Formats: sequence, structure tokens, C-alpha cells
Amino acid sequence: MTQERKNRILSPREMGECREYTEKMRQLNEGKGKKVFVLTFGCQQNEADSEKLAGMSMDMGYTVTKDPHEADLILVNTCAIREHAEKKALSIIGQYKHIKAARPETMIGVCGCMVVQEHRAEEIKFRYPYVDFIFGTSSLHRFPKLLYDKTTKGKRLYCPQESEFCVAEGLRINRESNYRAWVSIMYGCNNFCSYCIVPYVRGRERSREMHEIVAEVRDLAQRGYKDITLLGQNVNSYAKDSEFTYDFADLMAELSKIEGDFLLRFMTSHPKDASKKLIDTMAQNPKIARHFHLPMQSGSDEILAKMNRRYDTKKYLETVDYLREKIPGITITTDIIVGFPGETEEDFEGTLNMLRRVKFDMIYSFIYSPRKGTPAAEMECQIPDSVKSERFNRLLAVQNEIAFELNQQEVGKTLRVLCDGISKNNEKVYSGRTEGNKIVFFDGDESDTGKYINVKIDRAEAFALYGQKV
Ligand code: 5AD
Ligand code: SF4
Repeated sequence: MTQERKNRILSPREMGECREYTEKMRQLNEGKGKKVFVLTFGCQQNEADSEKLAGMSMDMGYTVTKDPHEADLILVNTCAIREHAEKKALSIIGQYKHIKAARPETMIGVCGCMVVQEHRAEEIKFRYPYVDFIFGTSSLHRFPKLLYDKTTKGKRLYCPQESEFCVAEGLRINRESNYRAWVSIMYGCNNFCSYCIVPYVRGRERSREMHEIVAEVRDLAQRGYKDITLLGQNVNSYAKDSEFTYDFADLMAELSKIEGDFLLRFMTSHPKDASKKLIDTMAQNPKIARHFHLPMQSGSDEILAKMNRRYDTKKYLETVDYLREKIPGITITTDIIVGFPGETEEDFEGTLNMLRRVKFDMIYSFIYSPRKGTPAAEMECQIPDSVKSERFNRLLAVQNEIAFELNQQEVGKTLRVLCDGISKNNEKVYSGRTEGNKIVFFDGDESDTGKYINVKIDRAEAFALYGQKV
């Protein structure tokens, strides 16, 4: 039996068990004013999982708090993509020792990608004895039972990962925002890029059925959500893991028929699978935001091959050219890794040249971080840290110039911006995002939050646009 055939929707019995223990926990917590604090590291997929964990906790009688010190239940949803993310999570878990000492009845659970790795699960077990339970990315539906067993039997519990990968439908979601929403459309990844831990910690691809996604998006649109992002590690291979007769472009076309004033986004795409059919579907449907995040990772064909990306720079450029031909004005963003093993100065120059050729609106750049168990971590010619950071700085300098120039073209235009409220750094300024996902700062007021506002752009920098409400 192949791994793909094992993927399945959870049976009513398993979901029934999830509901049974949710109810048992609710009865235990009833009238006690219990609170849950959820801390999230990593990507949007983790944010979406955390919204589910918070929703499930609410069903178990907890209210959500933003202060871990007053929480009866602390959940740390971890990330494993780079060492830095793991170190940050471990350091915070270390600090929670004091909370546990002051309030021993506080339950601490650690979940997410980091703890799926055996060496990290062991580390938590032995170095953080006050952590009450851990569970992996595919065990979300087990969370109520784990919590119940821990509460009633007191034993520390470890459920790093299920042997089968599954899709759990019907879990309650406590959305952080009432105008932007994440919708997971698939889980896992089949690509095994040689640097990446994701396929090991999130398992093989498994897609939700189209009717479930349509129902969720329709509900969000009816409730007034304005910006809905479909999530998957490689959304372009949506439904390929199953016997479904539709694909990602079909899903986008179907979702575009839903009534309402909202935009659809998706992330992340893999350049080897980003199809013309999808781009045509985007061109025909104004509900799909004119923004494409297309991780390039490197501009060297040799490095792309070593990364096991299964496309070359020629194929990448063909996709970019087709996108720009069909959807004029589209924003294109990317991910870049610098310092992959064996990356020569010439390889790195290739990346800089691709930046100059494509002119990305924005890049998310990362210093290569060896991940235990991935092929790249074992490759020869690991690049010294000093070289990695020198290249990283050069990459940013080149991109800053490009983004600055591109953003100047927006000056004088009036753009529709979805307002996110007061900016974090300046209380007098409001911030929001354009259809192309560019950040705009403007003179808003509190009632603008969550609404589309027209802003005339009068100034631009590499990372943001500035303007006035019109
Ligand atoms: N080191 C550095 N960056 C990484 N990414 C994935 N794995 C690693 C790693 N080991 C980056 C890729 C991916 C993004 C989400 O994180 O660029 O697209
Ligand atoms: Fe990681 Fe590659 Fe899968 Fe993205 S496509 S999650 S980079 S293995």
C-alpha cells in the first residue's frame, strides 16, 4: 500500500472520539473560568492550526488569553524550518518553567513541526520535565483526549505523530481576525526539496474535498471576510493525491463564483507545478488577487538541481513571463535561500541576476540552515557562516534597489487598501495591504479597520507605500 493510499478523511468514529473528550473536558472545566494561551511560531499553516487549537480549547470550556501567566493551559505550536525557529521555541519553553513553578496546575502542551522530530521530542521529554504533553502536526484531533487523560490520570503524554496521515474536518476554528482568514486546503508535501524538513514533519500530501472548502469560503464570505488565503505547502498539486476529478485551478474557479466583496489568495506554489491553466483562471477571475508567490530559492541551475527543485531558471522565467503577459501589473514575490551547500560565487551571482531579470516586488530571503535528516545537511562543501551572511547582505542590497524602483511606479496612483488598523510602530498612522499585498501607511481612523479604503500614494520606499485617504 502506498503512502498516498493511506491518506484519508477521519472516520466518524475518530471524530466522535474527539467530540466525546471535548465534552468530557468541558464538563470538567465548567464554571471554573479556565483560560488558554496559544503561542505560534512559523508559517501561516501553523497559524491556521493554532486557530483550530484555540477553537477546540474554547469548545472544552477555555477562554482565550494573551497572557501566559494567567493561563491554565499553555500551548506552544512550534516550527522546524530553520534552527533559529527551534531555538526561539525552546527558549520560551524554558522560560515557562517559572510559570509552572508559580502555578503548578498550569498545563503545558508543545505541538507542531519541531516535536515530530524524534530528537526534539526526546529533548523535551528529558530537558523540560514540566511539559505535560506533546502532540504532532497530524494529531490535532487527539488533543482533547490527551488533555483529558493528562488531567484525569496525571501521566505525561507523548503523541509525536500518527502512523497514518489524515484530514480532520469539522474542528472549531477561533479566527484571530474578522476580515482576513486562512483556509487550509491541503496538508503535507511530497516534494522532498533536499534542504527542507517539511515532508518529514508534515507527512505526505493530502487534500480536503472541494465541497468542504467551498462551504468554508462561502461561510467566510457571508460573514464579511474580505481577504481569504488558501493554504498548502504546494497548492498547485491540490487534489493530485486523491481520485478527485478536479485540480487547483478548478477549485479557484469554483471559489470565484461565490458572491461577496472579497479577494482570494493562495500560498505556496511550486514553480514546477504552477500551470498555465491556473494562470488563465486567475486572469479570468477578478476575485483572485493579482499576486503570485513563486519561491525560486536559487538562480543557479546547478544549485536548483542539488536542491531537488525539478525546474531550471529557463522554466521559471517562462512562468514569470506568462504571468506578466496574462495578468499585467501582477505582483510577484519569492523565497530565496543563500548559502546552500556548494553554492559558489558564480551560483550566487546567478541568483542576483535572476533578481535583476524578474524584478520581484518582494523577496523573503533565508540563510541556509542545515536540518537533521535532510540530504542537504549531509552534503559536502557547507558554506561558512561569514560567507552566508555576506551574501545575504548583498542580496538584500540588490533587492532593496529593485523594490524601491518598482514602488516608485505606484506614486500618484489611487490604490484600494484593506486596512489592518493602527500601525505597530506609529500610533498616528494606519496600515493596510493592496491587492498585490504591498504594505501601505496612511492617515486612517479606527473605523477603517477591516474595510477597503482608497489611498492616493504620495511616497514610496523599498518596503512600503505611503499616502492619504481619498
Ligand atoms: N534553510 C533555510 N531556508 C529554508 N527554507 C526551507 N528550508 C530551509 C532551510 N533548511 C525556506 C525556503 C522556503 C521557505 C518557507 O523557507 O525558502 O520556501
Ligand atoms: Fe519544503 Fe520543497 Fe515541500 Fe516547500 S515544496 S515544503 S520547500 S519540500
